[in-house]
Amino acid sequence: QVRQVVSSYSVVQSHNSKEAGIWVTYKDGIYDITDFMIGHPGGDKILLAAGSSVEPFWDLYAIHRSPEVYEILESLRIGNLHPEDKVARPAVNPNDPYKHDPARHPALKVNSAKPFNAEAPGSLLADNFITPNDLFFVRNHLPVPKVDPKKFRLQVGGKQFALEDLKQKFKQHSVIATVQCAGNRRSELSKLKAVNGLSWSHAAISNAEWTGVLLSDLLTSAGINGEDYKHCILQGLDTDGEGNPYEASIPMETASDPKKEAIVAFEMNGQELPLDHGFPLRVIVPGTVGARQVKWVKMISASQEESYSHWQRKDYMLFSPSTGHDTADYDKAVAIQEYPTQSAICEPRNGATIEGSEVTLRGYAWSGGGRGIMRVEVTPDGGKTWYEADMHGDEQQKRHQQWAWVLWEVAVPVPDGASDMSIACRAIDSSHNSQPEKLESVWNIRGLINNAWHHINLKVDN
Ligand code: HEM
Ligand code: MTE
Repeated sequence: QVRQVVSSYSVVQSHNSKEAGIWVTYKDGIYDITDFMIGHPGGDKILLAAGSSVEPFWDLYAIHRSPEVYEILESLRIGNLHPEDKVARPAVNPNDPYKHDPARHPALKVNSAKPFNAEAPGSLLADNFITPNDLFFVRNHLPVPKVDPKKFRLQVGGKQFALEDLKQKFKQHSVIATVQCAGNRRSELSKLKAVNGLSWSHAAISNAEWTGVLLSDLLTSAGINGEDYKHCILQGLDTDGEGNPYEASIPMETASDPKKEAIVAFEMNGQELPLDHGFPLRVIVPGTVGARQVKWVKMISASQEESYSHWQRKDYMLFSPSTGHDTADYDKAVAIQEYPTQSAICEPRNGATIEGSEVTLRGYAWSGGGRGIMRVEVTPDGGKTWYEADMHGDEQQKRHQQWAWVLWEVAVPVPDGASDMSIACRAIDSSHNSQPEKLESVWNIRGLINNAWHHINLKVDN
């Protein structure tokens, strides 16, 4: 190979088709995989990285972290990324409120570009217990704010903390916690009847190890006694056109109890918190709906009232399937906090064609409030017969608080002569809560918390 290309990331991005040639990057190197991909042992999946970095996928498929693979990779090297141009930056309009939004991995499926909302292809999700940062779903209501980490101060009650103070003066705490958006699986509901909201498939859920300081330690250090207040208000730095920041609140009981492990995080999977996930600080409230886990958090305070923000009082609330926009009473409804039981089938994909006498299904299952998953089961006949799945990734069970999802796998026989199959899954959590059967029974005007049985339809190639 002639190693001569010194290129910007945008040029790499344009090499994403057979005609233009397929390039990928790894660290500073640029690699031409056009010929290699035909014999790639992992098949077509390699194309997910076309025109971008292989790194998030190699975190998923760690089989690549071997000397043999690095040797193959090196043989495909055609050059290096330009030292000053390693990320793609779209032309910046100085008036664009989204001008500080970061570059994102092109494998994310974008539901809305501004604000940025995107999820990984659902079929990848169950491939690794930890979701790589670049493939973790992103749910932004507003533009990503620009923060100078040296000047940044976190306000807690009447006290201010510099980032270095947080990192050095407090005991650090890590927790593996799954974050799930209340809109996860909304697209299934909108097929029944229109709902208001972004059309998420089943990947608005991801799992990471978060490191930071316990929220309870911060409250104590600011002289806030949890027993004196009902709610803990969390405010972000991101604002709408009128200067209103994103804000939410959680029960003070959750915030001030160290066993609930709510943290103010500065690291995600051992790396500095990425811009999209709240750099420099975000709140992680294990077992709670994503909307309360405030990113770019700048102010934490104690109150007798819930946050007055739109997101606490006029959104993220559940109504009956028979309640319409005209009859929804947001003053009476209760803000979503803990999540109910959820599960989904990630592989095979809905609509895939299968061969052979059995099909292996893989997916995730999770429940809120620290309730572990007791069982996951799938049915190929509308609920008459159930096959129990093997679960893994539930190492935290021994801590009696299960904040992370479990991944599961099960083989189901393909009936003789069948030309198609419809398969559904459901999980049962440690309190024996399960998932409702029908989408109709959970449908609601905002399309929130769809946790009905998750279905896929398969074609059988006989
Ligand atoms: C397997 C090379 C990129 C997905 C493998 C194996 C090699 C390889 C040598 C076999 C490993 C073994 O069995 O010991 C490469 C090279 C790449 C690349 C040189 C880039 C230049 C990717 C990407 C993805 C991917 C970007 C996913 C998006 C997979 C999968 C397997 C695999 C899923 C496992 C297949 C199995 O277990 O049957 N790759 N790979 N690879 N690769 Fe890649
Ligand atoms: N925090 C701020 N400041 N701004 C936001 O838009 N979105 C919330 C929550 N925290 C949001 C926020 C919602 S609705 C979800 S589901 C999670 O962040 C998503 O976190 P993620 O983007 O890291 O996956």
